[in-house]
Amino acid sequence: MGKEVIIACDFSSAKDTLRFLERFGQRRPFVKIGMELYYAEGPAIVEALKRRGHKVFLDLKLHDIPNTVKKSMAVLSRLGVDMTNLHAAGTRAMMEAALEGLSQPDGTRPLLIAVTQLTSTGEERMREELWIDRPIDEVVLHYARNAKCAGLDGVVCSPLEAEKVHAACGEDFLAVTPGVRFADGAVGDQVRVTTPEKAWSLGADVIVVGRPITAAEDPLTAYQRCQISQ
Ligand code: C5P
Repeated sequence: MGKEVIIACDFSSAKDTLRFLERFGQRRPFVKIGMELYYAEGPAIVEALKRRGHKVFLDLKLHDIPNTVKKSMAVLSRLGVDMTNLHAAGTRAMMEAALEGLSQPDGTRPLLIAVTQLTSTGEERMREELWIDRPIDEVVLHYARNAKCAGLDGVVCSPLEAEKVHAACGEDFLAVTPGVRFADGAVGDQVRVTTPEKAWSLGADVIVVGRPITAAEDPLTAYQRCQISQ
């Protein structure tokens, strides 16, 4: 996968999503369908966006016992998405089961990546609420190594951790990074954030951008501002 900007389409209906995407004219950006949109519209929204020509990252962040995740991934795999994910905290056994469920009989499957620590979680909360005492970048790297060991294609992490993830897991292991904000934009609930330029320079393979594009007056210009400069 080359460098990609994925737009997080965090809308509550297909109607709002399609109205938003109309602002991109003939362009068909890679889009992310998260819980809000998927729970509102179900598999039909995936089919609609695939039919329209978009690549789809289905961001449902599965986290359950291995058997449940395996069976759920088998169902999601049939939707023909390009990428999906789970929480690395579900353990290597869960990630391996997920891969098994996701693989089609002909051996093909969507890319599977693991969330390490949410980019809305800071080190202090991780320590005080989750009782994880290590520095957050070490935790992210440890989860990334587990994901790599389980055979996954990459992780979701902050752009600030992308370089270390590549150093630990290889250049081909994807660092998919939300937590991207323009220098002059609102941070919102995200904590471990940086700008698109910095994310690219730190080695992000894919940046996932929601509100800086979806809430922009001119989403197309905001999307173009996120692209890596050649
Ligand atoms: O609007 P914003 O740019 O913050 O959107 C980021 C998107 O990436 C959201 O859809 C959020 O669910 C998702 N995400 C995240 N942090 C993760 C994994 C996914 O922010 N670790």
